[in-house]
Amino acid sequence: MPLVNTKEMFEKAYKGGYAIGAFNVNNMEIVQAITEAAGSLNAPVILQVSSGARKYANSRYLIHMVKAACENFPDLPIALHLDHGDSFELCKACIDDGFTSVMIDYSGHPYEENVEVTKKVCEYAHDVKARGRYITVEAELGTLAGVEDDVKVEFGKSSYTDPEQVQDFVTRTGVDSLAIAIGTSHGAYKFKAEQCTRNKDGILVPPALRLDILEEVSRRLPGFPIVLHGSSSVPQEYVKIINEHGGKMPDAIGIPEDQLREAAKRSVCKINIDSDLRLGMTAAIRKHFDEHPDHFDPRQYLKDGRDYVRETVKHKIVAVLGCDNKA
Ligand code: G3H
Ligand code: 13P
Ligand code: ZN
Repeated sequence: MPLVNTKEMFEKAYKGGYAIGAFNVNNMEIVQAITEAAGSLNAPVILQVSSGARKYANSRYLIHMVKAACENFPDLPIALHLDHGDSFELCKACIDDGFTSVMIDYSGHPYEENVEVTKKVCEYAHDVKARGRYITVEAELGTLAGVEDDVKVEFGKSSYTDPEQVQDFVTRTGVDSLAIAIGTSHGAYKFKAEQCTRNKDGILVPPALRLDILEEVSRRLPGFPIVLHGSSSVPQEYVKIINEHGGKMPDAIGIPEDQLREAAKRSVCKINIDSDLRLGMTAAIRKHFDEHPDHFDPRQYLKDGRDYVRETVKHKIVAVLGCDNKA
């Protein structure tokens, strides 16, 4: 089937008490790994492209690779989504290029500006007469901590979503889904040690997600799909492989998977995962080089990377998202 928007995916996910995985794509192996995992488990999936990915791979390559994946899995609902669009112009360019969903992230700007720009993107994206199709729009209220290529918020500058704003924001903008801040964070170092406690084995335990804020938001927006960014769990087995094979990632820490599962059973319909795929790819390639110092054919080590990413996505679909057999 052709690329789909996220409307029907989210309606079904909300009713069914599960979430759709939104995984970031940057190259062919990652596109293949994610869609092979989704295909094998009959799971709808969102492939998302950040500004950093557009710079790295050239948006055109990514669009064509995603379309190739659609051809390969003709029965699978796949959405192509812009992750963290920072301007109307970027959202417009992606819509014009065939993306089926976009995020306008004006969460770092004053509230009224966030309303104004989000509304402008929605008016463009929802104009079925002009575009011939309905493009779904995600926006954000509240700010997540975390640092990546083009998404940077210092620790201490993040803020939880204020539930009092959500109804006004959704009504005035016409947005289709809303990313909220309830304690998730971008990247592989989500918390500082002083924000955590330690369990009896001395392992860091991060602060719990604020499911109370999620519930209050949903009480004010019944039936409305909520999005969680920064939802990698930073599997410690990958961190261990990386550190044992020449890497250095001390204190990498993520969001416990059982808490994300709880969020998915509630109103969270989209869960963003990128860092865990990066960790899987890196663990596989570091291990490969260590075990095969004579290898120099990229197909040998990228194949291992692709295998790890595929297994990671399969695990997420079953254990975190609960969207297997929902295609
Ligand atoms: O939330 C951001 C995504 O993980 C993309 O990261 O900007 O480094 O491509 P990036
Ligand atoms: P992670 O860094 O936790 O994987 O979050 C990814 C994300 O939110 C992409 O928008
Ligand atoms: Zn994000």
